[in-house]
Amino acid sequence: MTTSRWPHAFFAAAATYAMIGVCWGLTMSITQNHATYSAHAHLNLLGWVSLALMGAFYALLGQNVPNWVKLTNFTLSNVGVICMISGLFMYLGQVGPVSIYGPLLAVGGLCTVAGFLLFGVTVITSLVRKPAAA
Ligand code: HEM
Repeated sequence: MTTSRWPHAFFAAAATYAMIGVCWGLTMSITQNHATYSAHAHLNLLGWVSLALMGAFYALLGQNVPNWVKLTNFTLSNVGVICMISGLFMYLGQVGPVSIYGPLLAVGGLCTVAGFLLFGVTVITSLVRKPAAA
């Protein structure tokens, strides 16, 4: 049993994105307007699925990962989701100028990739540092 609150924080963020994502999907279904489906899909997969998987890793296998790594992963991944999905929504829904959604997509994409790279390196190094018991 872990005492770290970081897995809980990852799951709380993931559940928030899931609530928004499924309401978004339902709205598309009801209105028959699927213009923003790609942003909905990315919100569900980057926000809900990916953050929940990261939280599960930190809860089950990553208890020894330093807090600054979890904080940085959490910050990068959440800033990435929020900026990228906002930018995608504006672009696909044609509700804003490129001067706003362009930087949002750039920052969101870079932060999302950086979050995945940090998570990937963390998973691999934790395997190397902590050999299996059997
Ligand atoms: C009540 C829940 C949900 C509803 C009502 C819903 C509804 C929709 C709708 C209407 C589309 C547009 C389909 C199209 O135009 O081709 C869509 C696309 C998509 N959704 Fe959802 N969605 C829900 C939950 C989820 C969840 C939980 C995920 C992933 C974890 C997800 C992933 C996707 C993906 C990947 C696409 C793109 C599929 C494609 O390329 O056509 N959705 N969804």
